[in-house]
Amino acid sequence: MNDKTVIKSDWDKEGFSQRFSKAASIQIPMREKMFKTLFLFFNFHFKHEPSVRILDLGCGDGVLISELLNMNPNIKATLVDGSAEMVDLAKKRFDENKSIEIIHARFEDLITTESSLLQYDLVISSLAIHHLTKDDRRKLFVFIYSHLTKGGYFINIDTVLPPEGEIEEFYLLLWEEWIDEVSGITGESDKYHDLIYGHHQSLNHLSRVAPLVEQLTLMEETGFIDIDCIMKYGIFAMYIGRKP
Ligand SMILES: C[S@@+](CC[C@H](N)C(=O)[O-])C[C@H]1O[C@@H](n2cnc3c(N)ncnc32)[C@H](O)[C@@H]1O
Repeated sequence: MNDKTVIKSDWDKEGFSQRFSKAASIQIPMREKMFKTLFLFFNFHFKHEPSVRILDLGCGDGVLISELLNMNPNIKATLVDGSAEMVDLAKKRFDENKSIEIIHARFEDLITTESSLLQYDLVISSLAIHHLTKDDRRKLFVFIYSHLTKGGYFINIDTVLPPEGEIEEFYLLLWEEWIDEVSGITGESDKYHDLIYGHHQSLNHLSRVAPLVEQLTLMEETGFIDIDCIMKYGIFAMYIGRKP
C-alpha cells in the first residue's frame, strides 16, 4: 500500500473531510440511527468475545471504531482510508492506541496489490464503497470475503440507486425533509440543495452507485450468506452478510 497515493475525488480537497465530519449527521439521513443499529448488532453478536478484530474500510476520522471501542476495549482494528486528511484525523483520534492500525490506501490499491492485512471477525464500511466501478466493487467484496474469518460479518452502509422517475424524486424529497427536520428550520435544506442534487445527479455518482438488489446479489455471488438489508431510508441503506 502506497502512502503517497492520491485519491482523485472531493475527499482529497483540502478541508472537505473536516467539513463532512461536522455536517454529516445533518446531511446524511438516519446516519446516527444506522450507526446505533450497527452498535446494537455488535453488542448482540460480539458481546462475549474476548477479542474482536475489525476492519473499517473508508474509516473517515474513525468515528465508528471509536464508538465500538467504548463498547469493547478488546477490539483490535485496522482502519483504511484514501484521504490523507481523514487519515490524519483518525490518527489524532486514536493517538498512541497500539490496537489500532491506520492505513492510508485506496480500495483500488487494496484489490490490486498483495494484501498484508490479516483476518477479521467483522468488516464495516460506511458511505465509502459507492464510488467504485462495478468491477472494482466486485473485487472489493471478494477482498472483504477473503479477509473474514469463518462466520465473520460484513456490514455496509451506503447509497443505493433508486428506480428512475417518481421514486427517485420522492427519495430526494425525503432527503430534503430530513434536513429540515433535524436542523429544526424549514427551508434549511436550501443550503444543502446543491449537495443533494449535485451529489445524487453527478455523473460519477449515477454511473457507479448500484441498485440495492444488485449490491445484495453481488454479496450472494461472492459467497456471503444470511444477507439482508437491515435498514433503508430513500437512497441510503445498510445491509449485512456472513461468511459461512
Ligand atoms: C462519506 S465519508 C464516510 C466516513 C466514515 N465512514 C463515516 O461514516 O463517517 C467516505 C470516506 O470514504 C473514503 N473513500 C472514498 N472512496 C475511497 C476509496 N476509493 N478508497 C479509500 N477510501 C475511500 C473517503 O476518503 C472518506 O473518508
